[in-house]
Amino acid sequence: MSTFSQPARRLPDRPDPATESEPGGADPRDRTTVRIAKGARDAKSGKAAKDTGDDGPKLGPTGRPVRHLPEPPPIDRHGPAQIVAMCNQKGGVGKTTSTINLGAALAEYGRRVLLVDFDPQGALSVGLGIQPHELDQTVYNVIMERSVDVEDVIRETRVERVDLLPSNIDLSAAEVQLVAEVGREHTLLRVLRPVIDRYDYVLVDCQPSLGLLTVNALTAADGVVIPLECEFFSLRGVALLIDTIEKVRERLNPKLDITGILATMFDPRTLHSKEVIARVVEAFGDTVFDTVINRTVRFPETTVAGEPITRWAPRSAGATAYRALAREVIAR
Ligand SMILES: Nc1ncnc2c1ncn2[C@@H]1O[C@H](COP(=O)(O)OP(=O)(O)OP(=O)(O)O)[C@@H](O)[C@H]1O
Ligand SMILES: [Mg+2]
Repeated sequence: MSTFSQPARRLPDRPDPATESEPGGADPRDRTTVRIAKGARDAKSGKAAKDTGDDGPKLGPTGRPVRHLPEPPPIDRHGPAQIVAMCNQKGGVGKTTSTINLGAALAEYGRRVLLVDFDPQGALSVGLGIQPHELDQTVYNVIMERSVDVEDVIRETRVERVDLLPSNIDLSAAEVQLVAEVGREHTLLRVLRPVIDRYDYVLVDCQPSLGLLTVNALTAADGVVIPLECEFFSLRGVALLIDTIEKVRERLNPKLDITGILATMFDPRTLHSKEVIARVVEAFGDTVFDTVINRTVRFPETTVAGEPITRWAPRSAGATAYRALAREVIAR
C-alpha cells in the first residue's frame, strides 16, 4: 500500500496548550505522512448525501457532507479475520466502549467477531457481563503458558457471533515477564493465529499505555482504530501514538495501517466539542471517521448492564452511531 501524503496544514494562530508540548517533541499537525487505510483515502470521492434543502448538502459533525453507506452485503464464508487494535494511551477515551459496541454492530451485519481484552483492568470482560476475578484462565495464561490452548479460554458471549478472550489483573504481570521472551512482540499474534480463520474481525482492546502489551497488539494488527475524546487535551499524545504505530510498522509489522480516528464523547450542544473536532479533522483529514460518538449516559449504563448498547438500547442514537461506524470499518 502506498504512503498517503498530506501537506502540513496551517492552523489558527490561537495558542493551544493541548498540542504545545507533545511528548517526543512532535506535533500531530506537523506530520507529513500518515499512512491510512485505502477506504479512508477514498473518503473524499465517496458520494455525498443528496441535497436536503437550498443550503447545499447536509454537513455532519466532522464538517464534511454526510455520506450514507449502504448496509454491507451479507457474507457466506468467514475469515481470515482482520485484526484491529483499539488503541490510545490516554485513559478513559472510549476504547473499551468502542470495542464492545463496534464488535456487536459488526456481528449484527453477520460478521464473526472475537473481542480480545488486553487490559489487566478487565473492563471489556465486565462490559460483557463476565466477572474477571472469577476466571481461572485468561489471555494471560494463553500468552505465558504454551500448554494453554487459546480455544479453551475463548468463550461465547450473550451476543450472537461475538466471542471473548477475557482478561483480569493477572495480565499486569505479563508486561514484565514478556520482556525475557524471544519474539516477545509477536506473542499475541502467535496465540491468535490458530483462530484467525474462524472470525472476520478480531478487535483488541488495549490498555491506556504504549508498553509491551500494546506493542504486541500493534504487531498482531492489520489496522488501528484510535478513539479520541472530544475534549481540550485530546490531541496531546496522539503524535506519540502515531510515532509508535510507525515504528511498529517499520520494524515489526509492515502491513499495519491506521483504520481511522474515532471522535468520541462529542457534545453537539457545545461550541467546545465542535472546535475540538474541527482541529482533529484539520490535523488528520480523512483518517477521521465520519461517524462521531455523542456523549450520553447510556454508555455507562450499558457497562452496568453488561451488554453492548446495540442490545441494551437498540434504537438509541448510540447504537445507531456504532452501526454506522461498523459500516465505515467494513468499507475501509
Ligand atoms: N460516548 C460516551 N458518552 C458518555 N460516556 C462514555 C462514552 N463512551 C464511554 N463512556 C464512559 O466513559 C468511561 C470510559 O470509557 P471507556 O472505558 O470505554 O474508556 P477507555 O479508553 O477504555 O478507558 P481506559 O483507558 O481506562 O481503558 C466509561 O465509564 C464509559 O462508560
Ligand atoms: Mg478500556
